[in-house]
Amino acid sequence: MNWTNAYTGKRALVSGAGSGIGEAAAVALRAAGATVYGLTSNPTTLAAARAKHPEIRWLSADLGKRAEVELAVKSATAEGRLDLLVNNAGIYKFASLEASEEAMVRSQFDVNVLGAIFLTQAALPALRASRGAIVNVSSTSARKASPGQVVYAATKGALESFTRALASELATDGIRVNAVAPGPTMTGGIAKIDMPPEVRAAAMEQMPKMIPLGRTGTAEEVAHWILTLGDPGVTWVTGQIVGVDGGMTAG
Ligand SMILES: NC(=O)c1ccc[n+]([C@@H]2O[C@H](COP(=O)([O-])OP(=O)(O)OC[C@H]3O[C@@H](n4cnc5c(N)ncnc54)[C@H](OP(=O)(O)O)[C@@H]3O)[C@@H](O)[C@H]2O)c1
Repeated sequence: MNWTNAYTGKRALVSGAGSGIGEAAAVALRAAGATVYGLTSNPTTLAAARAKHPEIRWLSADLGKRAEVELAVKSATAEGRLDLLVNNAGIYKFASLEASEEAMVRSQFDVNVLGAIFLTQAALPALRASRGAIVNVSSTSARKASPGQVVYAATKGALESFTRALASELATDGIRVNAVAPGPTMTGGIAKIDMPPEVRAAAMEQMPKMIPLGRTGTAEEVAHWILTLGDPGVTWVTGQIVGVDGGMTAG
């Protein structure tokens, strides 16, 4: 689909925009005409993101810290309206329940769930004013988790419930709330998952076999659906979770 000018005059905020799916969404939104605010988590990633994509307006906030989140949204909305919030930032750390240490459990809930909730709360007045849209980034794991993903799956399950409940709460404000649930997508985040090289090699070989369409996805393929759900022209879709997963959750 050609998004040229679909977002002209619109303003979007994308969390986790410095890499992977968030970066692809931020770049596509900018190409489609939006003014894009990209959120990263720290000054190092902020400097790298700014150098790579000067066309995006960069902000830094650790999503686990509510005060930082509020400050970042304040700077973005001080410059004008906000039409789209993309809650994309997330961390995935895989381990069995027994091996899931407290810090690992808390950090995933902090970013994947509380981060999305606090960012949405802070952005809500501006989204209300524009009757904007929210797109959350869930995961296939919420519906179809493999062993070792128990905590991550729980965070994404919470994000999907948040999506549906918020869609119903904000419907009378004209704000649409939807989510994409990607399957395995080749991003830097996948490369960062801590596992022995032989386990990684086996997982990489196994992954396409679990996907009916026979391959992993790209960040751009997921971004396409973020832009579709956020599109100001898509006016009668809310509370939906769209699986972008090569058919992984089809059966
Ligand atoms: N790749 C997949 O196979 C896949 C599948 C299903 C769902 N997803 C979901 O897609 C989203 C993006 O994942 P990805 O694969 O693109 O991974 P990624 O490249 O690692 O991107 C994750 C982003 O989250 C940001 N982030 C992490 N901790 C943060 C914090 N405390 N505060 C603010 N931002 C923080 C990171 O920003 P910094 O670099 O600045 O820390 C990074 O830009 C995640 O929600 C993930 O759960 C991914």
